[in-house]
Amino acid sequence: MIDKYIDQSIHGDCIEFMKNLPDNCIDITFADPPFNLGKKYNGYKDNQKILDYLDWCEKWISEMVRITKPSGSIFIHNIPKWLTFYARILNELAHFKHWIAWDAPTSPMGKSLQPSHYGILYYAKNIKENKFYEIRYPHKRCRKCGYLLKDYGGKKDNLHPFGPLVSDVWKDIHRIKHDKYRDEHPCQLPIHLLERIILMSTDENDVVLDPFIGTGTSAIAAKRLGRHFIGIDIDEKYVKITQAKLDKEDSDSKINKSWVSFYLEEPATIRDIDWNDLVDSFSLPEKTRYIDFEKITLCPHFNHKRSSSKQLEIPMII
Ligand SMILES: C[S@@+](CC[C@H](N)C(=O)[O-])C[C@H]1O[C@@H](n2cnc3c(N)ncnc32)[C@H](O)[C@@H]1O
Repeated sequence: MIDKYIDQSIHGDCIEFMKNLPDNCIDITFADPPFNLGKKYNGYKDNQKILDYLDWCEKWISEMVRITKPSGSIFIHNIPKWLTFYARILNELAHFKHWIAWDAPTSPMGKSLQPSHYGILYYAKNIKENKFYEIRYPHKRCRKCGYLLKDYGGKKDNLHPFGPLVSDVWKDIHRIKHDKYRDEHPCQLPIHLLERIILMSTDENDVVLDPFIGTGTSAIAAKRLGRHFIGIDIDEKYVKITQAKLDKEDSDSKINKSWVSFYLEEPATIRDIDWNDLVDSFSLPEKTRYIDFEKITLCPHFNHKRSSSKQLEIPMII
């Protein structure tokens, strides 16, 4: 039933589309809906009355949960204000796992604390069957002296050479700040944000469905990581941009047998269970504790070039 939609970016209304899918057919669903903040989309009007907006959200959230497999997860990205309403809906339908705080400063609002994170709600369709993999990100270092930023005290002999396990606060992925790296879309997410979500919640060949595909971030992440996708957008222009970008992508984000998320040609997220397969591809310091001042590097023959993507961000200076 879903075969004809696999690896397609589809022009249409996501609720109408999802209604025609059977129960329990998708491995993970990820949504980055319009924030109802008056953003300037090509066609969509982002200024519904609050009750209309929430009523509409309840409909697509219910469909997302219905079509997600019992082993699958439901992810929704938004500003904290709307996530509080979504959580009420999701608590009735699925099982709370995390509120991921994605540290990403936004514009000052005045008369409030400075908003500095987006949230990603992470729910399991069925908590006992839920598929989850621990993931790691590279150690953070001082850009001047190269030493680890975190003080591990006397525990440096036990450091993981690649980096710590990812927590529910994500500070190492930055928004796309420069117009020259974005498509003509007001709310494009970074690809490696979606790659992290996909690596921790799916296996190769699993299917990711995104009801608000925009210019294709989740579809590109899925394709790069050897997963399948279904993306829907109400705006044909965005669907066409997505398709054009996908045509230039390969399923090649790999080191040895393991799928890996890259950013600026360096591994940005790996799965913990893949480390044994990955370790030989890195040059490691002589002693583990030297990780404190010696960065592990990918051996030259594993260098990964992503020439097809224009989505590069300027790395943040710490
Ligand atoms: C926040 S953006 C998604 C951006 C996307 N995550 C990316 O990185 O490019 C929300 C998208 O939802 C689309 N949209 C709005 N209403 C929709 C509907 N009823 N069905 C499908 N897509 C819709 C808009 O056209 C817009 O592209």
